[in-house]
Amino acid sequence: MKLRDHTGFPWIFAPIIVPCGVVTLSVPSACADVTSIFRPLSTPAQAVYEISLLTLAICAAIFLVVAGMLVYTIIRFRRRPGDEGREPPQVYGSNQIELAWTVVPILIVFVLILATARTIYDVQGAILPADALNVTVVGRQWWWEINYPKLGVMTANELHVPVSESDRRRPTVLRLESADVAHSFWVPQLAGKTDLIPNRVNQMWIEPIQPGTYVGNCAEYCGLQHARMLLRVIAHSPADFETWAAAQQMPPVEDGQARTGRDLFFATSCINCHAIKQTTANGKFGPDLTHLMSRQTLGSGVVTNTRKNLRAWVRDPQHIKPGALMPNMQLTDDELDQVVDYLLTLK
Ligand code: CUA
Repeated sequence: MKLRDHTGFPWIFAPIIVPCGVVTLSVPSACADVTSIFRPLSTPAQAVYEISLLTLAICAAIFLVVAGMLVYTIIRFRRRPGDEGREPPQVYGSNQIELAWTVVPILIVFVLILATARTIYDVQGAILPADALNVTVVGRQWWWEINYPKLGVMTANELHVPVSESDRRRPTVLRLESADVAHSFWVPQLAGKTDLIPNRVNQMWIEPIQPGTYVGNCAEYCGLQHARMLLRVIAHSPADFETWAAAQQMPPVEDGQARTGRDLFFATSCINCHAIKQTTANGKFGPDLTHLMSRQTLGSGVVTNTRKNLRAWVRDPQHIKPGALMPNMQLTDDELDQVVDYLLTLK
């Protein structure tokens, strides 16, 4: 195989160099519409962002030095006519060179360790206001149980929190648990990742400074539907948060129109896995349905929460999310319509 042409340029590297360049150039434009650690909007995420810039700057400097020397060497010492059969001078045992390539990397790693340890200490050791919101998040295959113990609110997959304002900080402390395997809570714009581990409690905190919806996902492989274990954090102004919490504390409003569907729901095994406030449904395996229709998505972000999708979900969850623990209840078309009519009243 001919690896070099008459210019001596090693074209064999072209398939590696060209795609790298394309990826590098396209990253900033792609980042504009996806969530990114480079647009932090929360105190811990800001700390992660700053340390990542330092790390990237050091890595970029190392890359430029190494790549620069490599390119220089490739061009300067390329094969020339008349080189045949000649060996370059061989160098053995240079104390200066060996010292340089040992000490310099040790110093670089030391700087990175110190800076990282300081960031970890700043985030984990932060003193938060006593009235910080406490939320317990339980990772489950494959959805998020979200519990506000002090507010008496239970929901799923969508974490509602207040934003911090300049005159009043309102961080949210998350107590992270798992009901089955290891998961990881990650909303890039709000904080770093923290694992949810069975038989263990981990803690992290977020402090969004701008109202809006922040998307995230499970960041630890946890089985078949790991990639579809999506997460939303909805940050409200403090007043809107109080309104949301007050609505969630109420039991669902009874709607006489959906009586048939309600009776059917309570006669099937739905109630063994799902809870609805102030009813006999008090199952714990599946998401709390008290205010199901206040949520934006179904199946932990798999589809939007519309009548059509809800009907398709109840008809056969396995079709939408294969492996999900909710079984196909084998309802007839009429029964499906009735149950869905009832579920739509859970606002
Ligand atoms: Cu849960 Cu991956």
